[in-house]
Amino acid sequence: MQTIGIIGAGQMGSGIAQTIAQHGMKVLLSDIDRPAAERGKGAIDTALTRLVGRGKLQANEAEAILARIEPVADLAPMAAASFVIEAATENESVKQAIFERAGKILGADAIMASNTSSIPITRMANWTPDPARFIGLHFFNPVPVMGLIEVIPGLATSSDTIARTRALAEELGKEVVEVQDEPGFVVNRILVPMLNEAVFVLGQGTASIEDIDKGCRIGLNHPMGPLELADFIGLDTCLDIVRVLYTTTGDSKYRPAPLLMKYVEAGWLGRKTGKGFYDYSGEAPVPTR
Ligand code: CAA
Repeated sequence: MQTIGIIGAGQMGSGIAQTIAQHGMKVLLSDIDRPAAERGKGAIDTALTRLVGRGKLQANEAEAILARIEPVADLAPMAAASFVIEAATENESVKQAIFERAGKILGADAIMASNTSSIPITRMANWTPDPARFIGLHFFNPVPVMGLIEVIPGLATSSDTIARTRALAEELGKEVVEVQDEPGFVVNRILVPMLNEAVFVLGQGTASIEDIDKGCRIGLNHPMGPLELADFIGLDTCLDIVRVLYTTTGDSKYRPAPLLMKYVEAGWLGRKTGKGFYDYSGEAPVPTR
């Protein structure tokens, strides 16, 4: 059975772990410490229990999936992994420290991948022992549901690494798009400026939170409006991505909306903190403006 190491047990890391375990592979799940990794597994347990409750999964299948996920206290056991996927905070110094530690234990033939949403792959490859075996593997949230993976080779990524990464993505039942290492890749380069623009529209008083979302949901046939989706992704993550686009291109069209910065400064980061453009503390979300 193939073993995959995942570093970061938050929203994305636990979604990736769940998806991999659902496809019959073993997962070693780590975070800053073992309790944080255990919490990631707990979130997967909750998601699987919901699927069982809705008759989408048998209880014994859920048990088997959970049994394939092992929370670990440090990276040492990942020496046995064929892939190590980093899904930590979107912060360069955090990622650099992780790659330097993971590089010391990485198996001789193993591939290291980052789920970064916007940090250049070629830059991160330099923090790893073998840039030929480093690649971007960008999942979408919620990972078990979304059908796409962006595969992003860096300048030094080998063709063998690309082929093995595409094979893993396909084994997970995902469609692959291969994308050059440019800021935001494809999907976030297009999506995040749209979310940022929605916050400009809100800040200028053009329409209410509910009407901006309703307009895009119905007028564009999107499953979620842009403000609702920004809350779902996390407003800090959206701001991080728009800042990467702005600083790496120097193009003012990517400047962050002031109101987005204000929400992040307030700690209103969206669903994960219970409040963003909507307040999630009651039964139904309520707009915060
Ligand atoms: N594991 C497995 N299946 C799950 C699941 C999980 N954790 N969570 C939900 N599902 C399944 C449900 O069982 C359900 O399946 P069926 O259709 O077979 O019944 C399906 O997913 C839909 O779930 P719900 O009925 O609970 O919810 P919904 O219909 O309201 O859809 C949604 C929720 C899928 C999130 C939908 O609103 C949606 O697609 N939103 C847009 C999401 C999006 O744009 N994501 C990309 C964000 S950008 C990104 O991720 C990149 C980045 O770097 C920032």
